[in-house]
Amino acid sequence: MKGLGITVNEHLLIHQKESPAATGRFTKLLSELIFSAKIISKEVNKAGLVDILGFTGEINVQGEQVRKLDDFANRVLIYRMQRTGVLCAMATEENADIIEVPEDMPRGDYILIFDPLDGSSNIDVNINIGTIFSIHRKISDRPYVSLEDFLRRGSEQIAAGYFLYGPSTVLVYTTGNGVNGFTLDPSVGEFLLSHQNITIPEAGKIYSVNEAYTCYWDERTKKVVNYFKNSVIEGGRPYTARYIGSFVADFHRNLLHGGIFMYPADSKDPAKPRGKLRLLCEVAPMAFIAEQAGGAATDGEQRILDIKASALHERVPLFIGSKMDVEKATEIMQGK
Ligand code: AHG
Ligand code: MN
Ligand code: MN
Repeated sequence: MKGLGITVNEHLLIHQKESPAATGRFTKLLSELIFSAKIISKEVNKAGLVDILGFTGEINVQGEQVRKLDDFANRVLIYRMQRTGVLCAMATEENADIIEVPEDMPRGDYILIFDPLDGSSNIDVNINIGTIFSIHRKISDRPYVSLEDFLRRGSEQIAAGYFLYGPSTVLVYTTGNGVNGFTLDPSVGEFLLSHQNITIPEAGKIYSVNEAYTCYWDERTKKVVNYFKNSVIEGGRPYTARYIGSFVADFHRNLLHGGIFMYPADSKDPAKPRGKLRLLCEVAPMAFIAEQAGGAATDGEQRILDIKASALHERVPLFIGSKMDVEKATEIMQGK
């Protein structure tokens, strides 16, 4: 019936046969992720009123100062997802090592990798932040979980998605059968289908990159960015610049309106020559979504989803978004 809205569970049931990954156990996993996101969203929405801003005083495995909301989101997800009964282990951007589900808890064969709060530098200034998640199935037939179960190609993901905490809280995810968006209706506490079968425009209107790093880029990267800055078509310039320092928010805008997001390799931090974004918990899940929406994602040389992770917190350069824009950027990066 029009206007009553379709919940995530109803949508999964309707499309169960088309998405083999969307089993009852997957529904349980997604339901727990949704519950965790509702808890996080509540804290995000009142940040500034309670003592949840600022720093914990710790430094995480990324070498970054941990913000209280990062830590809160991380603890909520670890606590709740351990109790789903369908996971055997998880990994988070905030923790150095994998986290196995304790032996005394019911376990399954799903593996969850997540960035609990992406865009955390924006927490204190009330700009959109988000949670990114990636779901794999354990491959090794050993009874215990090993790092090898996590060092996978993005093409092996069972599902991937993100929650975006902003003027409304949105869930976007794929199980390999297209991309759908749901918006949280706070009056009933349910995510309702709001963006069915999202497809990213083949060519974009927006380029997103932190141009303050121009001095740290190689010549090809500068050529890519200049291409989008200086393109002109009859009637004016086709691109505009948008960059808010929250990958989830920048990606979501370009997914809906078309465009390219870039976080190229740069020389600003010798410890991070391949750029800042993490393959397993940020880049691979978004690349899965981008491709499922008809877009593309490369590291300037190869398809992101073909890259086999060699370390849990491996970073990769990223060009992601509208297919034609990513192809153009990749061509230039390859010197064509
Ligand atoms: P996180 O908050 O999880 O560390 O991620 C922040 C990332 C990403 O969200 C954003 O696109 C990027 O950092 C911004 O980095 P710069 O400030 O270097 O542009
Ligand atoms: Mn992040
Ligand atoms: Mn983060």
